[in-house]
Amino acid sequence: MAEQPSNPLSRPLADGIVPQEAVARTEKRWLMIMAALLAAMMAVIVVTGIVGALHPSSNVEVLDPTTLHLRGEFVESNLGTAIEPDGSVTVRIIAEQYDFVPHCVRVPAATPVKFRLTSADVVHGFLLPNTNVNSMVVPGFVAEVRTRFAAPGEYAMPCHEFCGLGHHAMWAHVSVVPKEQFANLTPTARTGCVPQ
Ligand code: CUA
Repeated sequence: MAEQPSNPLSRPLADGIVPQEAVARTEKRWLMIMAALLAAMMAVIVVTGIVGALHPSSNVEVLDPTTLHLRGEFVESNLGTAIEPDGSVTVRIIAEQYDFVPHCVRVPAATPVKFRLTSADVVHGFLLPNTNVNSMVVPGFVAEVRTRFAAPGEYAMPCHEFCGLGHHAMWAHVSVVPKEQFANLTPTARTGCVPQ
């Protein structure tokens, strides 16, 4: 019968017990795989952010959500698409449970467009699929997003922040029309998308 070493650490391992070095090696390997996955995901976020020009609203502008309809930039007569002296357009929209006001706006293609939104009640979302437009609309603040539509088209504008029981039904439209056609639209046709 073989003599067992007196130090228990130098005794041979029982069947089925994995040596400590092998465990450490495997753990290190998994750590490296996870670090690589994390790095890849961070890279995807950074690269898509830069390539798609995605960015959070760059300005902090505050206003009083309880007096939106009484005074200031977001009174009803000021909502919708306005033409600026430099030829660009500014779109002002109020988000409220459970619609956007106005419900549809027309903007020109190939023109700088500045969206300015605010909320009259809770947090809503402002998203135009397949564009760089994606922002939260927080009561008390103005969400400003600048974009440019290369070609005419129709965009659905769903609210993408859960805002209550009617959230799923809260959406609006942005209708991008050719630049020449836009110049001939009446203010009513620009804001509300009613036929000319
Ligand atoms: Cu508004 Cu969801």
